[in-house]
Formats: sequence, C-alpha cells, structure tokens
Amino acid sequence: MKGIILAGGSGTRLSPLTLAVSKQLLPVYDKPMIYYPLSVLMLAGVRDILLISTPSALPVMQRLLGDGSRLGLNLSYAAQREPRGVAEAFLIGAGHIGHDRSALVLGDNVFHGSGLSEVLCSSRDSLDGCVLFGRPVPDPERYGVGEVDSRGRLVSIEEKPTSPRSNNAITGLYFYDDQVVDIARHIAPSSRGELEITDVNREYLGQGRVRMVELGRGCAWFDCGTHDSLLAAGQYVQLVEKYEGERVACLEEIALRMGFIDAEACYRLGDGMRHSRYGRYLTEIACAPG
Ligand code: DAU
Repeated sequence: MKGIILAGGSGTRLSPLTLAVSKQLLPVYDKPMIYYPLSVLMLAGVRDILLISTPSALPVMQRLLGDGSRLGLNLSYAAQREPRGVAEAFLIGAGHIGHDRSALVLGDNVFHGSGLSEVLCSSRDSLDGCVLFGRPVPDPERYGVGEVDSRGRLVSIEEKPTSPRSNNAITGLYFYDDQVVDIARHIAPSSRGELEITDVNREYLGQGRVRMVELGRGCAWFDCGTHDSLLAAGQYVQLVEKYEGERVACLEEIALRMGFIDAEACYRLGDGMRHSRYGRYLTEIACAPG
C-alpha cells in the first residue's frame, strides 16, 4: 500500500500563526504536527509515502524529514500549487500510487489510542473498495458525516451538513483500492471550487464498496484546524506522555517497534538529539531489553 500525506492549504483559520509558518509544521506539544499523521501511516505498515504540500513549505518539510531512510521509509515530495481540494491528492499522487492501493491522511489530523496499529493493519488487509474511519463528535457539522443504519451499514455521507443526520465524523484517514485515481479524475469541483474527498467516498458508497470502521472509546482524534483544537491536541499529548509514560507519534520508536530500523540506528538518532527529553527517551528505549 502506498501512502500520501496531504499537508498543504493556506491555514487561514489559524492566522496569524500560519502567516509565515505552514500549519503542519506548528508544534503539537513536543513535535511538529506532521509527525502525527506520518506516525499513523507507519503504524499501518505503510513505508512508501508521498508528502504533498505548498511550494513554500516543501523545502522545510524536506529539511525536517529528508528521504525518510533514517526511519526506514521511502519519502518523496510533491507540490500542490493551490488548495484545489483534498481529492486533488490523487491527481498529484497518481504516479506514486501506480496500480497499488493507497492510504491518504490529512496533515492536520492527530490519532492516538491503544490497539490503533492492529485496527489499521486489519483494515488494510481486508480492504475491498474503501475504508473510512468514523468517530463520534459533539460538533459533526464541522466534518464529513457518515450515517449508519441499524445494521451498521453506511447509508449516507455528507460534507459539513448544516443538519447532520448523525454525530459520526469521518476522520481524515482513508484507505482505497486501486480505483481511486480514476474516480478522483472523474469528479467535478464542488460549489466552493474544490475536489471533495466526500465525492470520492460517495462514489464508493454508490458502488456498495465502503466500510466504516468506528474508532471507539480509547482512541483520541483531533483535527488541528482551529486554535482550540490545536491546543487541545497539544494538551492531550502532554498528559499522555506525562502520566501514562508513553510517547505519542514518536517516529523513531515506531520505526523500531515496526522493525523498520534496528536498536543501534534508534540509539544514534536519539544521541543526535540528546539535549532534549525526546532524544534521551530514544537512547533509553534503544538500550532497553526486548
Ligand atoms: O479532518 C477531517 C475532515 O477533513 C473531514 O471530516 C472532511 O470530510 C474533509 O473534507 C476535511 O475537512 P476540513 O474542513 O478539515 O478540510 P480542510 O479544507 O481544512 O483540509 C484538511 C487538510 O488538508 C488541511 O490540513 C489542509 C489540507 N489541504 C486541504 C485542501 C482543501 C490541502 O493540503 N490541500 C487542499 O487543497
């Protein structure tokens, strides 16, 4: 499966934070926002990843993440000149995807929870058409919303409805089969002039090939698109790291646990950042037995 992180857009809702810095490079507690969606693809076992961003942010993202080899990944980069919609990721990423299946994650989405890797890997392995990840929220009108019938089947998908039919938000993580590029090529821009991911998902729904996986209790999800949600995500990460003694979206640790790098490589990466707690944590886990 190929991965895509869509990390462009103008971030105007976060002004003035985003006047000079790309949203996805802002800190979520102790690491740049982009680490979080990247960690999700890694937890799904996806290693060949295209990062799409604005022409001005790309060089900084590249300086941050490089070619990915230090994490056992293959990272490539592409520019989206204008924010023409989430589904444009599949037009820009068509060459990267080829005839493979793909996972798209939005660059401002933070996921964390126990058993997340297992849910992602089993959804990837059983993929037939498309898999969406739903999460109950108090403010569904801010998101894509999925309505599920009494038998648990998805019956409708709406983008930011004024009167939502359910409180089930469709999060910014999507798994697709090899048809997605073709489908994205055939959808028309919406009234706001964007290629909507919801229209791609509706096409799969029409074909009866969508599965909605509920990210239930025990899984936290944040879309860091507003000042409040950005702060809430940072506070969540701080609490988990401080009181559960667990790191959230620690890329080097995930790479080690997934077998993408060995303990020696993890130690070297930590040693390079030994003046931070993050770096010292890496050297400790690299030396820990097992
Ligand atoms: O976060 C989940 C939600 O993401 C879904 O529930 C919605 O169905 C989906 O449309 C999307 O809604 P948003 O209102 O959050 O989309 P937004 O325009 O903020 O874009 C999401 C991210 O993708 C954001 O980090 C910027 C980036 N982006 C967006 C567009 C439209 C791009 O890189 N390029 C784009 O053209």
